[in-house]
Amino acid sequence: MSDTYVMAIDQGTTSSRAIIFDHAGQIVSTGQKEHEQIFPQAGWVEHDATEIWTNVREVVGQALGRASLQNTDIAAVGITNQRETAVVWDRRTGEPVYHAIVWQDTRTQKICDELAALGGGAERYKAKVGLPLATYFSGPKVRWILDNVEGAREKAEAGHLAFGNTDAWLLWNMTGGPDGGVHVTDVTNASRTMLMDVASLTWDEEIAAEMKIPMSMLPEIRSSSEVYGQGRGRGLLAGVPIAGILGDQQAATFGQACFEVGNAKNTYGTGNFMLINTGTEPVPSKNGLLTTVAYKIGDQDAVYALEGSIAVTGSLVQWLRDNLGIISSAPEIEALAATVEDNGGAYFVPAFSGLFAPYWRSDARGALVGLTRYVNRGHIARAALEATAFQTREVLDAMNADSGVDLTELKVDGGMVANEALMQFQADILGVPVIRPKVAETTALGAAYAAGIAVGYWSGEQDVIDNWAEDKRWEPSMDTDERDRQYRLWKKAVTRTFDWVD
Ligand code: G3P
Repeated sequence: MSDTYVMAIDQGTTSSRAIIFDHAGQIVSTGQKEHEQIFPQAGWVEHDATEIWTNVREVVGQALGRASLQNTDIAAVGITNQRETAVVWDRRTGEPVYHAIVWQDTRTQKICDELAALGGGAERYKAKVGLPLATYFSGPKVRWILDNVEGAREKAEAGHLAFGNTDAWLLWNMTGGPDGGVHVTDVTNASRTMLMDVASLTWDEEIAAEMKIPMSMLPEIRSSSEVYGQGRGRGLLAGVPIAGILGDQQAATFGQACFEVGNAKNTYGTGNFMLINTGTEPVPSKNGLLTTVAYKIGDQDAVYALEGSIAVTGSLVQWLRDNLGIISSAPEIEALAATVEDNGGAYFVPAFSGLFAPYWRSDARGALVGLTRYVNRGHIARAALEATAFQTREVLDAMNADSGVDLTELKVDGGMVANEALMQFQADILGVPVIRPKVAETTALGAAYAAGIAVGYWSGEQDVIDNWAEDKRWEPSMDTDERDRQYRLWKKAVTRTFDWVD
Protein backbone atom coordinates (compact mmCIF):
# COMPACT_ATOMS: atom_id res chain seq x y z
CA MET A 1 0.00 0.00 0.00
CA SER A 2 2.95 2.35 0.56
CA ASP A 3 3.20 3.28 -3.13
CA THR A 4 -0.41 4.34 -3.54
CA TYR A 5 -2.25 7.32 -2.12
CA VAL A 6 -5.74 8.61 -1.46
CA MET A 7 -7.02 11.94 -2.78
CA ALA A 8 -9.60 14.17 -1.16
CA ILE A 9 -11.44 16.83 -3.11
CA ASP A 10 -12.51 19.56 -0.68
CA GLN A 11 -15.05 21.77 -2.41
CA GLY A 12 -15.40 24.61 0.12
CA THR A 13 -17.22 27.92 0.25
CA THR A 14 -14.28 30.03 -0.91
CA SER A 15 -12.09 27.56 -2.77
CA SER A 16 -11.76 24.05 -4.14
CA ARG A 17 -8.80 21.94 -3.14
CA ALA A 18 -7.36 18.56 -3.94
CA ILE A 19 -5.13 17.00 -1.29
CA ILE A 20 -3.24 13.74 -1.66
CA PHE A 21 -2.55 11.75 1.53
CA ASP A 22 -0.28 8.81 2.22
CA HIS A 23 -1.08 5.80 4.39
CA ALA A 24 0.07 7.60 7.56
CA GLY A 25 -2.47 10.37 6.87
CA GLN A 26 0.28 12.83 5.96
CA ILE A 27 -0.13 15.37 3.16
CA VAL A 28 1.85 14.52 0.01
CA SER A 29 0.60 17.22 -2.31
CA THR A 30 -2.11 19.87 -2.70
CA GLY A 31 -3.80 22.04 -5.33
CA GLN A 32 -6.12 24.94 -4.58
CA LYS A 33 -8.15 27.55 -6.44
CA GLU A 34 -10.62 30.18 -5.23
CA HIS A 35 -13.88 30.79 -7.05
CA GLU A 36 -15.91 33.95 -7.40
CA GLN A 37 -18.31 34.98 -4.64
CA ILE A 38 -21.33 36.50 -6.34
CA PHE A 39 -23.47 38.95 -4.33
CA PRO A 40 -26.31 40.06 -6.66
CA GLN A 41 -28.13 41.92 -3.88
CA ALA A 42 -28.16 42.27 -0.08
CA GLY A 43 -28.53 38.85 1.53
CA TRP A 44 -27.94 36.89 -1.71
CA VAL A 45 -24.81 34.74 -2.16
CA GLU A 46 -24.18 32.65 -5.29
CA HIS A 47 -21.47 30.52 -6.89
CA ASP A 48 -21.04 29.50 -10.51
CA ALA A 49 -21.22 25.69 -10.36
CA THR A 50 -19.56 25.37 -13.77
CA GLU A 51 -16.59 27.43 -12.54
CA ILE A 52 -16.37 25.14 -9.50
CA TRP A 53 -16.29 22.00 -11.70
CA THR A 54 -13.59 23.57 -13.92
CA ASN A 55 -11.57 24.53 -10.83
CA VAL A 56 -11.86 21.05 -9.37
CA ARG A 57 -10.36 19.52 -12.52
CA GLU A 58 -7.56 22.09 -12.37
CA VAL A 59 -6.68 21.48 -8.72
CA VAL A 60 -6.74 17.70 -9.20
CA GLY A 61 -4.20 18.23 -11.99
CA GLN A 62 -2.11 20.51 -9.75
CA ALA A 63 -2.05 18.02 -6.88
CA LEU A 64 -1.11 15.09 -9.12
CA GLY A 65 1.46 17.12 -11.07
CA ARG A 66 3.22 18.58 -8.02
CA ALA A 67 3.89 15.07 -6.70
CA SER A 68 4.56 13.61 -10.18
CA LEU A 69 1.67 11.18 -9.69
CA GLN A 70 -0.91 9.78 -12.08
CA ASN A 71 -4.40 8.39 -11.73
CA THR A 72 -2.98 4.89 -11.32
CA ASP A 73 -1.19 6.01 -8.13
CA ILE A 74 -4.49 6.95 -6.49
CA ALA A 75 -6.30 4.11 -4.71
CA ALA A 76 -9.50 6.08 -4.12
CA VAL A 77 -10.97 9.58 -4.10
CA GLY A 78 -13.17 11.09 -1.41
CA ILE A 79 -15.33 14.18 -1.86
CA THR A 80 -16.07 16.65 0.91
CA ASN A 81 -18.00 19.85 0.36
CA GLN A 82 -19.68 23.00 1.53
CA ARG A 83 -23.07 21.69 2.59
CA GLU A 84 -26.58 23.06 1.86
CA THR A 85 -25.42 25.02 -1.21
CA ALA A 86 -27.95 24.04 -3.89
CA VAL A 87 -27.07 23.23 -7.50
CA VAL A 88 -29.85 22.46 -10.00
CA TRP A 89 -28.77 21.28 -13.42
CA ASP A 90 -30.18 19.82 -16.61
CA ARG A 91 -29.23 16.15 -16.90
CA ARG A 92 -29.34 16.33 -20.71
CA THR A 93 -26.77 19.10 -21.11
CA GLY A 94 -24.92 19.22 -17.80
CA GLU A 95 -25.68 22.95 -17.58
CA PRO A 96 -26.83 24.41 -14.25
CA VAL A 97 -30.16 26.22 -14.70
CA TYR A 98 -29.09 28.94 -12.24
CA HIS A 99 -26.07 29.81 -10.13
CA ALA A 100 -25.62 27.64 -7.04
CA ILE A 101 -27.45 29.30 -4.15
CA VAL A 102 -24.98 29.29 -1.27
CA TRP A 103 -25.75 28.19 2.29
CA GLN A 104 -25.25 31.80 3.52
CA ASP A 105 -27.98 33.16 1.23
CA THR A 106 -31.13 34.49 2.92
CA ARG A 107 -33.47 34.96 -0.10
CA THR A 108 -35.70 32.06 0.92
CA GLN A 109 -37.02 33.79 4.04
CA LYS A 110 -40.48 34.25 2.52
CA ILE A 111 -40.65 30.58 1.48
CA CYS A 112 -39.64 29.54 5.00
CA ASP A 113 -42.25 31.86 6.54
CA GLU A 114 -44.97 30.47 4.27
CA LEU A 115 -44.08 26.89 5.15
CA ALA A 116 -43.98 27.76 8.86
CA ALA A 117 -47.45 29.33 8.55
CA LEU A 118 -48.88 25.97 7.41
CA GLY A 119 -48.65 25.03 11.10
CA GLY A 120 -45.93 24.28 13.60
CA GLY A 121 -43.93 27.43 12.94
CA ALA A 122 -40.18 27.15 12.49
CA GLU A 123 -40.28 23.68 14.08
CA ARG A 124 -42.74 22.33 11.46
CA TYR A 125 -40.36 19.63 10.16
CA LYS A 126 -37.91 19.45 13.08
CA ALA A 127 -39.06 16.12 14.50
CA LYS A 128 -38.49 14.46 11.13
CA VAL A 129 -35.47 16.24 9.68
CA GLY A 130 -33.72 17.47 12.83
CA LEU A 131 -33.59 21.07 11.54
CA PRO A 132 -35.57 24.26 12.12
CA LEU A 133 -37.08 25.98 9.07
CA ALA A 134 -34.34 28.43 8.11
CA THR A 135 -32.84 29.94 4.99
CA TYR A 136 -29.64 27.93 5.63
CA PHE A 137 -30.89 24.61 4.21
CA SER A 138 -31.16 23.39 0.60
CA GLY A 139 -34.85 22.50 0.15
CA PRO A 140 -36.23 26.06 0.14
CA LYS A 141 -33.37 27.11 -2.20
CA VAL A 142 -34.45 24.47 -4.74
CA ARG A 143 -38.04 25.68 -4.40
CA TRP A 144 -36.85 29.25 -5.09
CA ILE A 145 -35.08 28.16 -8.29
CA LEU A 146 -38.14 26.24 -9.52
CA ASP A 147 -40.40 29.22 -8.75
CA ASN A 148 -38.15 31.90 -10.23
CA VAL A 149 -36.11 30.52 -13.13
CA GLU A 150 -38.09 30.58 -16.36
CA GLY A 151 -39.00 27.11 -17.57
CA ALA A 152 -37.33 25.35 -14.61
CA ARG A 153 -40.50 23.92 -13.06
CA GLU A 154 -41.68 22.43 -16.37
CA LYS A 155 -38.28 20.85 -16.98
CA ALA A 156 -38.19 19.52 -13.42
CA GLU A 157 -41.65 17.99 -13.75
CA ALA A 158 -40.57 16.35 -17.02
CA GLY A 159 -37.68 14.71 -15.11
CA HIS A 160 -34.90 16.68 -16.81
CA LEU A 161 -33.50 18.49 -13.77
CA ALA A 162 -31.26 17.16 -11.03
CA PHE A 163 -30.51 18.71 -7.64
CA GLY A 164 -27.53 18.20 -5.39
CA ASN A 165 -25.18 19.89 -2.99
CA THR A 166 -21.76 20.33 -4.60
CA ASP A 167 -20.80 16.73 -3.69
CA ALA A 168 -23.52 15.34 -5.99
CA TRP A 169 -22.72 17.91 -8.69
CA LEU A 170 -19.05 16.89 -8.72
CA LEU A 171 -19.70 13.15 -8.49
CA TRP A 172 -22.16 13.31 -11.40
CA ASN A 173 -19.63 15.20 -13.51
CA MET A 174 -16.68 13.03 -12.51
CA THR A 175 -18.56 9.85 -13.40
CA GLY A 176 -19.57 10.95 -16.88
CA GLY A 177 -22.00 13.88 -16.59
CA PRO A 178 -24.74 13.68 -19.26
CA ASP A 179 -23.11 10.47 -20.43
CA GLY A 180 -24.25 8.19 -17.58
CA GLY A 181 -23.13 10.28 -14.57
CA VAL A 182 -24.04 8.80 -11.17
CA HIS A 183 -26.60 10.94 -9.31
CA VAL A 184 -25.91 10.10 -5.70
CA THR A 185 -25.35 11.94 -2.42
CA ASP A 186 -24.42 10.66 1.02
CA VAL A 187 -26.45 10.66 4.23
CA THR A 188 -24.58 13.63 5.71
CA ASN A 189 -25.30 15.95 2.79
CA ALA A 190 -28.88 14.68 2.56
CA SER A 191 -29.33 15.54 6.25
CA ARG A 192 -28.79 19.25 5.38
CA THR A 193 -31.56 19.55 2.78
CA MET A 194 -34.66 19.56 5.10
CA LEU A 195 -35.95 16.78 2.86
CA MET A 196 -34.49 13.67 4.54
CA ASP A 197 -36.09 11.79 7.41
CA VAL A 198 -33.13 11.68 9.75
CA ALA A 199 -34.18 8.40 11.40
CA SER A 200 -34.98 6.34 8.28
CA LEU A 201 -32.34 8.09 6.08
CA THR A 202 -34.82 8.32 3.20
CA TRP A 203 -36.35 11.29 1.38
CA ASP A 204 -39.62 12.42 2.95
CA GLU A 205 -42.18 12.61 0.15
CA GLU A 206 -44.64 14.72 2.16
CA ILE A 207 -42.07 17.44 2.85
CA ALA A 208 -40.88 17.39 -0.77
CA ALA A 209 -44.53 17.77 -1.88
CA GLU A 210 -45.08 20.72 0.50
CA MET A 211 -41.94 22.36 -0.86
CA LYS A 212 -43.15 21.54 -4.41
CA ILE A 213 -39.93 19.69 -5.26
CA PRO A 214 -40.38 16.73 -7.65
CA MET A 215 -38.87 13.55 -6.21
CA SER A 216 -37.21 12.85 -9.58
CA MET A 217 -34.78 15.73 -8.93
CA LEU A 218 -33.34 14.17 -5.78
CA PRO A 219 -30.14 12.11 -5.77
CA GLU A 220 -30.07 8.59 -4.40
CA ILE A 221 -28.99 8.59 -0.73
CA ARG A 222 -26.06 6.30 0.01
CA SER A 223 -23.57 5.78 2.84
CA SER A 224 -20.51 8.02 3.31
CA SER A 225 -18.03 5.25 2.53
CA GLU A 226 -18.62 2.96 -0.45
CA VAL A 227 -17.70 2.92 -4.13
CA TYR A 228 -20.23 5.14 -5.95
CA GLY A 229 -18.55 4.91 -9.35
CA GLN A 230 -15.26 5.33 -11.18
CA GLY A 231 -13.74 8.49 -12.63
CA ARG A 232 -14.55 8.66 -16.33
CA GLY A 233 -11.68 10.72 -17.70
CA ARG A 234 -13.21 14.17 -17.45
CA GLY A 235 -11.38 14.94 -14.20
CA LEU A 236 -7.96 13.29 -14.77
CA LEU A 237 -9.01 10.43 -12.51
CA ALA A 238 -10.12 7.85 -15.08
CA GLY A 239 -10.75 4.49 -13.50
CA VAL A 240 -10.18 5.69 -9.92
CA PRO A 241 -12.94 4.63 -7.49
CA ILE A 242 -14.84 7.53 -5.99
CA ALA A 243 -15.50 5.97 -2.64
CA GLY A 244 -16.24 8.56 0.05
CA ILE A 245 -18.58 11.52 0.46
CA LEU A 246 -18.95 13.55 3.64
CA GLY A 247 -20.21 17.09 4.15
CA ASP A 248 -17.20 19.16 5.17
CA GLN A 249 -18.06 19.47 8.85
CA GLN A 250 -18.82 15.78 9.15
CA ALA A 251 -15.56 15.04 7.34
CA ALA A 252 -13.67 17.10 9.92
CA THR A 253 -15.46 15.20 12.70
CA PHE A 254 -14.29 11.95 11.10
CA GLY A 255 -10.76 13.23 10.51
CA GLN A 256 -10.56 14.34 14.14
CA ALA A 257 -11.40 10.75 15.16
CA CYS A 258 -14.57 11.76 17.05
CA PHE A 259 -15.88 8.19 17.11
CA GLU A 260 -17.05 7.96 20.73
CA VAL A 261 -20.26 9.44 22.10
CA GLY A 262 -19.31 12.83 23.57
CA ASN A 263 -16.29 13.43 21.29
CA ALA A 264 -16.52 16.91 19.74
CA LYS A 265 -14.65 19.13 17.30
CA ASN A 266 -14.92 22.74 16.20
CA THR A 267 -13.88 23.82 12.70
CA TYR A 268 -12.93 27.45 11.99
CA GLY A 269 -13.72 28.15 8.31
CA THR A 270 -15.83 30.87 6.68
CA GLY A 271 -18.18 29.95 9.52
CA ASN A 272 -17.65 27.79 12.60
CA PHE A 273 -19.23 24.40 13.05
CA MET A 274 -19.05 22.40 16.27
CA LEU A 275 -20.23 18.77 16.16
CA ILE A 276 -20.56 16.32 19.01
CA ASN A 277 -20.97 12.59 18.40
CA THR A 278 -24.27 11.36 19.91
CA GLY A 279 -24.14 7.71 18.81
CA THR A 280 -26.40 5.63 16.61
CA GLU A 281 -29.75 7.28 17.46
CA PRO A 282 -30.70 10.83 16.41
CA VAL A 283 -30.96 13.09 19.48
CA PRO A 284 -33.29 16.11 19.35
CA SER A 285 -31.96 19.44 20.60
CA LYS A 286 -33.74 21.70 23.06
CA ASN A 287 -31.10 24.40 22.81
CA GLY A 288 -30.88 25.52 19.20
CA LEU A 289 -28.57 22.80 17.84
CA LEU A 290 -29.16 20.73 14.71
CA THR A 291 -29.63 16.98 14.65
CA THR A 292 -27.49 15.75 11.80
CA VAL A 293 -25.87 12.59 10.46
CA ALA A 294 -22.17 12.44 11.35
CA TYR A 295 -21.24 9.54 9.05
CA LYS A 296 -22.25 6.10 7.88
CA ILE A 297 -19.60 3.58 6.90
CA GLY A 298 -20.95 1.17 4.27
CA ASP A 299 -23.79 -0.89 5.71
CA GLN A 300 -22.92 -0.15 9.35
CA ASP A 301 -25.39 1.89 11.42
CA ALA A 302 -25.36 5.63 10.86
CA VAL A 303 -23.73 7.71 13.59
CA TYR A 304 -25.41 10.99 14.52
CA ALA A 305 -24.24 14.34 15.86
CA LEU A 306 -25.60 17.50 17.36
CA GLU A 307 -24.23 20.53 15.53
CA GLY A 308 -23.87 24.17 16.43
CA SER A 309 -23.54 26.11 13.17
CA ILE A 310 -22.21 29.69 13.17
CA ALA A 311 -22.61 31.46 9.83
CA VAL A 312 -19.87 34.09 10.02
CA THR A 313 -16.40 33.76 11.59
CA GLY A 314 -13.55 33.61 9.03
CA SER A 315 -15.72 35.41 6.48
CA LEU A 316 -15.78 38.40 8.86
CA VAL A 317 -12.01 38.66 8.40
CA GLN A 318 -12.52 38.48 4.62
CA TRP A 319 -15.14 41.22 4.93
CA LEU A 320 -12.71 43.47 6.82
CA ARG A 321 -10.21 42.86 4.02
CA ASP A 322 -12.51 43.10 0.98
CA ASN A 323 -15.27 45.50 2.05
CA LEU A 324 -13.50 47.82 4.53
CA GLY A 325 -9.87 47.38 3.43
CA ILE A 326 -8.52 47.70 6.99
CA ILE A 327 -6.21 44.73 6.29
CA SER A 328 -4.77 43.66 2.95
CA SER A 329 -4.53 39.93 3.67
CA ALA A 330 -6.42 37.74 6.13
CA PRO A 331 -3.38 36.75 8.29
CA GLU A 332 -2.65 40.47 8.87
CA ILE A 333 -5.55 40.58 11.29
CA GLU A 334 -3.47 38.87 13.96
CA ALA A 335 -0.80 41.59 13.89
CA LEU A 336 -3.40 44.37 13.79
CA ALA A 337 -5.28 42.87 16.73
CA ALA A 338 -1.97 42.60 18.62
CA THR A 339 -1.47 46.39 18.44
CA VAL A 340 -4.02 46.76 21.26
CA GLU A 341 -4.33 45.13 24.68
CA ASP A 342 -8.06 44.46 24.55
CA ASN A 343 -11.17 45.23 22.51
CA GLY A 344 -11.43 48.77 23.91
CA GLY A 345 -15.08 48.09 24.77
CA ALA A 346 -16.10 47.19 21.18
CA TYR A 347 -18.16 44.09 20.40
CA PHE A 348 -18.80 43.00 16.82
CA VAL A 349 -21.75 40.66 16.18
CA PRO A 350 -21.46 39.53 12.53
CA ALA A 351 -25.10 38.56 11.95
CA PHE A 352 -24.63 38.96 8.18
CA SER A 353 -26.89 35.98 7.37
CA GLY A 354 -29.08 36.48 10.42
CA LEU A 355 -27.91 34.48 13.43
CA PHE A 356 -27.63 30.69 13.25
CA ALA A 357 -27.07 28.54 16.37
CA PRO A 358 -28.26 28.81 19.01
CA TYR A 359 -30.60 31.69 18.09
CA TRP A 360 -31.89 30.96 14.54
CA ARG A 361 -32.89 34.62 14.16
CA SER A 362 -33.23 35.46 10.49
CA ASP A 363 -34.35 38.97 11.48
CA ALA A 364 -30.88 39.77 12.91
CA ARG A 365 -28.26 41.83 11.07
CA GLY A 366 -24.69 42.68 12.02
CA ALA A 367 -23.82 45.23 14.69
CA LEU A 368 -20.64 46.83 16.01
CA VAL A 369 -21.43 48.23 19.45
CA GLY A 370 -19.65 49.83 22.40
CA LEU A 371 -17.94 52.40 20.17
CA THR A 372 -16.27 55.51 21.58
CA ARG A 373 -13.63 57.84 20.13
CA TYR A 374 -11.06 55.66 21.87
CA VAL A 375 -11.77 52.71 19.52
CA ASN A 376 -9.31 52.28 16.63
CA ARG A 377 -8.66 49.77 13.81
CA GLY A 378 -6.82 47.47 16.20
CA HIS A 379 -9.81 47.28 18.55
CA ILE A 380 -12.12 46.50 15.63
CA ALA A 381 -9.77 43.74 14.43
CA ARG A 382 -9.70 42.37 17.94
CA ALA A 383 -13.48 42.53 18.31
CA ALA A 384 -13.82 40.67 15.00
CA LEU A 385 -11.58 37.83 16.20
CA GLU A 386 -13.22 37.74 19.60
CA ALA A 387 -16.62 37.35 17.88
CA THR A 388 -15.49 33.93 16.70
CA ALA A 389 -14.61 32.87 20.24
CA PHE A 390 -17.79 34.27 21.83
CA GLN A 391 -20.04 32.63 19.23
CA THR A 392 -18.25 29.34 19.89
CA ARG A 393 -18.87 29.73 23.62
CA GLU A 394 -22.60 30.12 22.95
CA VAL A 395 -22.63 26.89 20.98
CA LEU A 396 -20.61 25.05 23.63
CA ASP A 397 -23.08 26.17 26.30
CA ALA A 398 -25.94 24.80 24.15
CA MET A 399 -24.11 21.47 23.77
CA ASN A 400 -23.50 21.18 27.47
CA ALA A 401 -27.17 21.96 28.15
CA ASP A 402 -28.41 19.43 25.56
CA SER A 403 -26.12 16.61 26.66
CA GLY A 404 -26.26 17.31 30.40
CA VAL A 405 -22.50 16.70 30.54
CA ASP A 406 -19.91 19.47 30.30
CA LEU A 407 -17.27 19.10 27.58
CA THR A 408 -13.86 18.97 29.19
CA GLU A 409 -11.77 19.86 26.12
CA LEU A 410 -12.31 20.87 22.51
CA LYS A 411 -10.49 19.64 19.40
CA VAL A 412 -10.14 22.40 16.81
CA ASP A 413 -9.17 22.62 13.13
CA GLY A 414 -9.52 24.86 10.09
CA GLY A 415 -7.74 27.97 8.83
CA MET A 416 -8.10 30.23 11.87
CA VAL A 417 -6.50 27.76 14.29
CA ALA A 418 -3.13 29.02 13.05
CA ASN A 419 -3.95 32.21 14.95
CA GLU A 420 -2.30 31.66 18.34
CA ALA A 421 -3.85 34.68 20.07
CA LEU A 422 -7.32 33.65 18.98
CA MET A 423 -6.83 30.10 20.23
CA GLN A 424 -5.64 31.38 23.63
CA PHE A 425 -8.65 33.70 23.83
CA GLN A 426 -10.88 30.79 22.79
CA ALA A 427 -9.61 28.64 25.66
CA ASP A 428 -10.02 31.62 28.04
CA ILE A 429 -13.63 32.28 27.01
CA LEU A 430 -14.61 28.60 27.04
CA GLY A 431 -12.79 27.77 30.25
CA VAL A 432 -11.62 24.42 28.79
CA PRO A 433 -8.43 23.44 26.94
CA VAL A 434 -8.39 23.82 23.15
CA ILE A 435 -6.41 21.18 21.20
CA ARG A 436 -5.03 21.41 17.67
CA PRO A 437 -3.96 18.21 15.83
CA LYS A 438 -0.72 17.89 13.83
CA VAL A 439 -2.62 17.56 10.52
CA ALA A 440 -4.97 20.55 10.73
CA GLU A 441 -6.50 19.65 7.30
CA THR A 442 -8.94 17.35 9.03
CA THR A 443 -11.78 18.02 6.59
CA ALA A 444 -9.88 16.68 3.59
CA LEU A 445 -8.34 13.96 5.72
CA GLY A 446 -11.78 12.76 6.89
CA ALA A 447 -13.00 12.43 3.30
CA ALA A 448 -9.81 10.61 2.35
CA TYR A 449 -10.30 8.16 5.23
CA ALA A 450 -13.94 7.50 4.22
CA ALA A 451 -12.81 6.70 0.67
CA GLY A 452 -9.75 4.73 1.74
CA ILE A 453 -11.75 2.60 4.19
CA ALA A 454 -14.24 1.73 1.42
CA VAL A 455 -11.50 0.26 -0.78
CA GLY A 456 -9.52 -1.39 2.04
CA TYR A 457 -6.62 1.11 1.92
CA TRP A 458 -7.27 1.72 5.61
CA SER A 459 -8.90 -0.95 7.75
CA GLY A 460 -11.31 1.28 9.68
CA GLU A 461 -11.67 3.86 12.45
CA GLN A 462 -8.73 2.46 14.42
CA ASP A 463 -6.33 3.61 11.68
CA VAL A 464 -7.76 7.13 11.99
CA ILE A 465 -7.29 7.06 15.77
CA ASP A 466 -3.71 5.74 15.41
CA ASN A 467 -2.78 8.44 12.87
CA TRP A 468 -4.24 11.33 14.94
CA ALA A 469 -1.61 13.27 16.91
CA GLU A 470 -1.79 16.39 19.09
CA ASP A 471 0.19 19.42 17.95
CA LYS A 472 -0.63 22.06 20.54
CA ARG A 473 -2.91 22.64 23.51
CA TRP A 474 -4.02 26.01 24.93
CA GLU A 475 -5.05 26.04 28.60
CA PRO A 476 -7.52 28.65 29.90
CA SER A 477 -5.78 31.36 31.91
CA MET A 478 -8.37 34.15 32.20
CA ASP A 479 -9.77 34.98 35.59
CA THR A 480 -13.39 33.75 35.94
CA ASP A 481 -14.85 37.17 36.79
CA GLU A 482 -13.26 38.71 33.71
CA ARG A 483 -14.49 35.84 31.51
CA ASP A 484 -18.03 36.29 32.85
CA ARG A 485 -17.91 40.07 32.40
CA GLN A 486 -16.82 39.86 28.77
CA TYR A 487 -19.34 37.13 27.95
CA ARG A 488 -22.14 39.15 29.57
CA LEU A 489 -21.27 42.15 27.38
CA TRP A 490 -21.15 39.92 24.29
CA LYS A 491 -24.63 38.58 25.03
CA LYS A 492 -25.89 42.12 25.44
CA ALA A 493 -24.35 43.05 22.08
CA VAL A 494 -26.14 40.10 20.45
CA THR A 495 -29.53 41.47 21.55
CA ARG A 496 -28.74 44.69 19.62
CA THR A 497 -28.86 42.76 16.30
CA PHE A 498 -32.42 41.42 16.69
CA ASP A 499 -35.50 42.57 14.81
CA TRP A 500 -33.55 44.48 12.19
CA VAL A 501 -35.20 43.24 8.97
CA ASP A 502 -38.41 45.08 7.99
O1 G3P B 1 -22.70 24.43 6.35
C1 G3P B 1 -21.77 25.17 5.61
C2 G3P B 1 -20.41 24.55 5.68
O2 G3P B 1 -20.45 23.24 5.22
C3 G3P B 1 -19.41 25.41 4.95
O3 G3P B 1 -18.15 25.14 5.39
O4 G3P B 1 -15.72 25.33 5.45
O5 G3P B 1 -16.92 25.86 3.35
O6 G3P B 1 -17.09 27.38 5.29
P1 G3P B 1 -16.87 25.99 4.83
